[in-house]
Amino acid sequence: MQSFSPTVSVVVPTFNESQNLPRLVGLLDKAMGDIAWEVVFVDDDSPDGTWKVAKQLAMDDVRVRCIRRVGRRGLAGACIEGALSSAAPYVAVMDADLQHDETILPDMLATLQKDEADIVIGSRFVGDGSSEGGFSARRAFASRVATHLAAFIIGRQVSDPMSGFFALKREVFEAVALNLVPSGFKILLDILASTRGRMRVAEVAYRFRSRQEGLSKFDTRAILDFLGLLLHRLTGGTVSVRFLFFMIVGAIGLAIHLVVLRIGLLGELGFEVAQSAATVVAMTSNFLVNNLLTYSDMKLRGTAALAGLLKFYVVCGVGALANIGVASWLFVSNESWWIAGIAGVIVGATFNYTMSSIFVWRQQQN
Ligand code: GDD
Ligand code: MN
Repeated sequence: MQSFSPTVSVVVPTFNESQNLPRLVGLLDKAMGDIAWEVVFVDDDSPDGTWKVAKQLAMDDVRVRCIRRVGRRGLAGACIEGALSSAAPYVAVMDADLQHDETILPDMLATLQKDEADIVIGSRFVGDGSSEGGFSARRAFASRVATHLAAFIIGRQVSDPMSGFFALKREVFEAVALNLVPSGFKILLDILASTRGRMRVAEVAYRFRSRQEGLSKFDTRAILDFLGLLLHRLTGGTVSVRFLFFMIVGAIGLAIHLVVLRIGLLGELGFEVAQSAATVVAMTSNFLVNNLLTYSDMKLRGTAALAGLLKFYVVCGVGALANIGVASWLFVSNESWWIAGIAGVIVGATFNYTMSSIFVWRQQQN
């Protein structure tokens, strides 16, 4: 049977990159020489119709594939799905915006084929690599700080652990896939952290180009993701990133609650009225922030968001009862007031988290 079996699948996560795809395919074609390759675009249903462009390209070229994901967002998750869709012996991951230099792919692949490394990273910071032009000064500084923090969780020095440009054996990827956090922005870091020191790493320098078309999706959320990943790995992978976010949002909600309560009291509302208003405001803001951050990959919109908010009120109401129940029980059993108080909060918050993950943002917790 006539068949096409690629040696390497180049996985490219995309979000609003329609203008970049045709050029990228052309550049890959030029760079790969006689290597049998395919490119797998994983698009999160981009409003600019990137997936349509990808599928159009696929009509003309068997080496082009596209996975269109709906109702989901996330760079790492997209890379994971793309890599898992591959049957090639090697998998590479790169961005669609032409910032990553495709001409080093054959080098990266050769290193893997010679079995000199388990993973090869395209690095902006080793040898002749550079990120001049590609990054603002502020972003470059943040990137350096993050690189040092990263060394900490991956247990070794890698010059560019934040890179979104790397290649590895598919088998190796399949083995770690289950341990990865799909909601993150830094998938390479996660791969290195979850295999802590067990992988032989090689680095190939490249020049990080500036983005020509479209916008960067790097934002505050990406920074928070990074911090979340850091904490997740510091706790040995036991505490989930989502749970950490949920707790941080809860702590902010408590501050908001106190501010509203204080304003209410200053405005001469009775305590009960002020406390009720503060509770509603805090629950609502917690819902909104969780929807934007904690569950950004499954954000509820429109009427689904309204229904979610109502369910969130119910969940938090029951959580508050659990909180008060546990705290009072401990308090009457002669625990000190603050132990009773904290225990109540922990039980209530954990309850809220678990129930929210099941009923409000319906999906498994990870
Ligand atoms: N499917 C999908 N879903 N793709 C996404 C999403 C998403 O939610 N967010 C971003 N992407 C795609 C973009 O379309 C692009 O192809 C790639 O992921 C990287 O996004 P950029 O917005 O261009 O990120 P950046 O340039 O700021 O940072 C990138 O390069 C750095 C240097 O290697 C990322 O790869 C960083 O992780 C990396 O450090
Ligand atoms: Mn980019």
